[in-house]
Amino acid sequence: MKKAFKRILYGGDYNPNQWPREIWQEDMNLFRKANINSATINVFSWAKIQPSEHEYYFDELDEIVEMLSKENYDIVLATSTAALPAWMFKKYPEVARTDYYGRHHKFGQRHNACPNSLVYQKYARRLAEELAKRYGSNEHVTCWHVNNEYGGECFCENCEKAFRVWLKDKYQTIEALNKAWNLEFWGHTVYDWDEIVLPNALSEGIAKDKTAFAGMSIDYRRFNSDSMLENFKMERDAIRSFAPHALITTNLMGTYKNLDYFKWAKEMDIVSWDSYPSYDTPWSMVAMSHDLMRGLKGQPFMLMEQTPSQQNWQPYNSLKKPGQMRAQSYQTLAHGADTIQFFQLRRSVGACEKFHGAVIEHAGTENTRVFREVASLGNELHSLGDQLLGADNPAQVGIIFDWDNYWALEYTSGPNKDLKYVNEIHQYYRYFYEKNIPVDMIPVDADFSKYKAVIAPVLYMLGDGMQPKIESYVKDGGIFVTGFMSGIVDQSDNVYLGGYPGPLRKLAGIWVEEIDALAPEQSNTLRFADGTDSVCHLLCDIIHLEGAVSLADYTSNFYASSPAVTKNAFGLGTVFYIGTQLEQKALEKVLDQVMASSEVKPVIDAKTKLEIICRSSQDKLYYFVLNLTNETLPLPQFFAGKVDILTGKALTGQTSFAPYDVALLCDERQ
Ligand code: GLA
Ligand code: ZN
Repeated sequence: MKKAFKRILYGGDYNPNQWPREIWQEDMNLFRKANINSATINVFSWAKIQPSEHEYYFDELDEIVEMLSKENYDIVLATSTAALPAWMFKKYPEVARTDYYGRHHKFGQRHNACPNSLVYQKYARRLAEELAKRYGSNEHVTCWHVNNEYGGECFCENCEKAFRVWLKDKYQTIEALNKAWNLEFWGHTVYDWDEIVLPNALSEGIAKDKTAFAGMSIDYRRFNSDSMLENFKMERDAIRSFAPHALITTNLMGTYKNLDYFKWAKEMDIVSWDSYPSYDTPWSMVAMSHDLMRGLKGQPFMLMEQTPSQQNWQPYNSLKKPGQMRAQSYQTLAHGADTIQFFQLRRSVGACEKFHGAVIEHAGTENTRVFREVASLGNELHSLGDQLLGADNPAQVGIIFDWDNYWALEYTSGPNKDLKYVNEIHQYYRYFYEKNIPVDMIPVDADFSKYKAVIAPVLYMLGDGMQPKIESYVKDGGIFVTGFMSGIVDQSDNVYLGGYPGPLRKLAGIWVEEIDALAPEQSNTLRFADGTDSVCHLLCDIIHLEGAVSLADYTSNFYASSPAVTKNAFGLGTVFYIGTQLEQKALEKVLDQVMASSEVKPVIDAKTKLEIICRSSQDKLYYFVLNLTNETLPLPQFFAGKVDILTGKALTGQTSFAPYDVALLCDERQ
């Protein structure tokens, strides 16, 4: 695969514009000592580079670019359009957003532009053009960073009008729209496009995440995501017109709910993202987010931001412990990153991020733990050179992640408010993570035939074409795993009539007659065929077998003795259906069977609590071995005798890994 970069970019967000000139030189000296080779600049400088409507000022940015170019940096140049200057709000209040509660905002904060404001669009496009005109041919500008963390939502009049246009384009006739949203319910039928209003607290809103018509809310999410994507494309194209070969990205946020990242990634040259786990985020969740970001394009990604030490915006901003930042960075590289970038290079003096960690802390020197750790990682990455860049992460298992389902599941009313999309996906992901079985996070339109098993938890919304696609995958021998809250609605959130799980009924060989919801203090019990008992939570499908066999039956509640987990042979393949939220141990039991029938293998054949991931280049296999637990762990014998590329030391059968220890080993590809 083609390498996007010549070296691992190592650096991050850098705001010399917030500092006097003498500090700049200090920065350069210190960064050199840390092998920093990249800086992301101009992220929030709109007010500086366009002080008024008709005036641009690039002197300072010129100096910054020149300074970094002299130091041979890979510059990641941002377009600054994520926080609007005050003059724009003063003259054109319409550029501000209107929130869910109908409050039109004033100047302040960031990520504050109405995506459908023509004024915002005009000035954002112009700014991107001016920047591209000026810096587009600078060979040190390696990557363009459009805006910053697109997100949020707007419910203003402009958006309302744009929503109507979007809907008209989608549905063509008002009758089709009424049908799609089932507006006969409560007599909400509309007769004209201009009767449609945005679903917020002033209209259909029940709570922040619920409206009376989930179908309408889901369409609004699609529209809002598309609106912001249009903003991105507009800036991207403006840059392209002056820098046709530019590599263009915008920084994403993992499992962030509001934007359909699979759709976005199709428009991006490379995916980049910001990884900010909190002190109690499971490592499997961090890994899943990386895999999702790699899955967006099925290609290596950029880690655009991580903190070297702590955040400021979480409730408890614990420090990363000694060695943790290094281990976390290698976990990121292991899952497909080609860059390691920090927010931020120098800790700001004031405002809300002054407690956010940085390479240079408020002490202002290199004599800090954080700086030493950053510098030593910089050294290692420098010695790695470009060998890892572009390497793949081969996987035989695909887990479906789908924003339509994310929205549909969380905007619907009932059956259980604790049902959270990301948590459900993560529970399955965790199984593979703990067994060191590589996984691709895949969209619904992925090519399933690449995978021995496709895992589709809570595949609630089944869009057009999905049923035949799954059917032919399974018929040809694929293993398909799904479960409760799957196959229930079409893409407009209307139920497939004729019994759950709708179009998946024949494939799964079952009929789900009812769905019970359990409160947190409630649980049910079930028994597996081998006699083991287990507890289950959240939701319980009451299942009738229609060809499938039961792997576990409920043993409590009025549906005791009816199946909870089933398996159905279909064509050459098999469908597993898990009708309730199992405990991890019980899920493991079922997924062990899935793995046995699909013959999927872990990276190495050994039981270990170390995280082991393999990236493969054309001729080499790179094994990352990470200890992300609190205990010291033995090295699996498979690796004995190999040399750790990072330290040059040979590992032996006696080698053990202390917490946060990492090794990188390499094999020729057979
Ligand atoms: C986000 C933003 C940065 C900064 C960091 C702080 O990722 O993109 O500008 O605010 O958070 O963690
Ligand atoms: Zn708006």
